[in-house]
Amino acid sequence: MVYTGLSGSGKSTVAAAVEHELYKLNCRSYLLDGDNLRNGINRDLGFLPEDRSENIRRIGEIAKLFADAGMITLVAAISPYRQDRDRLRASVQPGEFIEIYVNCSMEHCEKRDPKGLYKKARSGEITHFTGISAPYEPPLHPELVLETAKQTVSDSVHDVMSYIRHRGLIHPIKEEGEEF
Ligand code: ADX
Repeated sequence: MVYTGLSGSGKSTVAAAVEHELYKLNCRSYLLDGDNLRNGINRDLGFLPEDRSENIRRIGEIAKLFADAGMITLVAAISPYRQDRDRLRASVQPGEFIEIYVNCSMEHCEKRDPKGLYKKARSGEITHFTGISAPYEPPLHPELVLETAKQTVSDSVHDVMSYIRHRGLIHPIKEEGEEF
């Protein structure tokens, strides 16, 4: 499940809340967050197009390992290039890739500016910033669109949970001795 959208659109917030819901349902899940991975496995990468492509490629490979281990894997990363996301989609079985477009206008994200990055991008302190000095290509056919400027976090979580429930993707882990 890939959450894509502008910085400050709510990807990490919604993905973390969905993960919490899955945990309450006794489902195994794992959240791969672009921001966190950039401090570790992806710390050699910057924000030029080829670095962003490599970023999402590596995250995709890690996501596949977690999915192989039977987990619902959530990815929260801007992943601004359609081609990179489509490549990831093409590398898994049909139906396995769920693209969630976390749609929030630039104006709104900039107003939120939770990390003060838009301000720095406007002043030129940060270059190649998505939406200001680097592109964002919205998905053309996402499985789900969340309108985070209009919806509350719990509305978004509700939409995601309904979607994955409807797709039959909720598989609680069995407690010992429990019959399913
Ligand atoms: S991605 O574009 O390669 O998918 P990713 O989601 O991993 O990006 O990381 C984005 C985060 O890096 C942002 O939320 C922000 O905190 C930080 N960041 C730092 N510089 C930039 C930049 N130039 N463009 C976008 N995000 C940046």
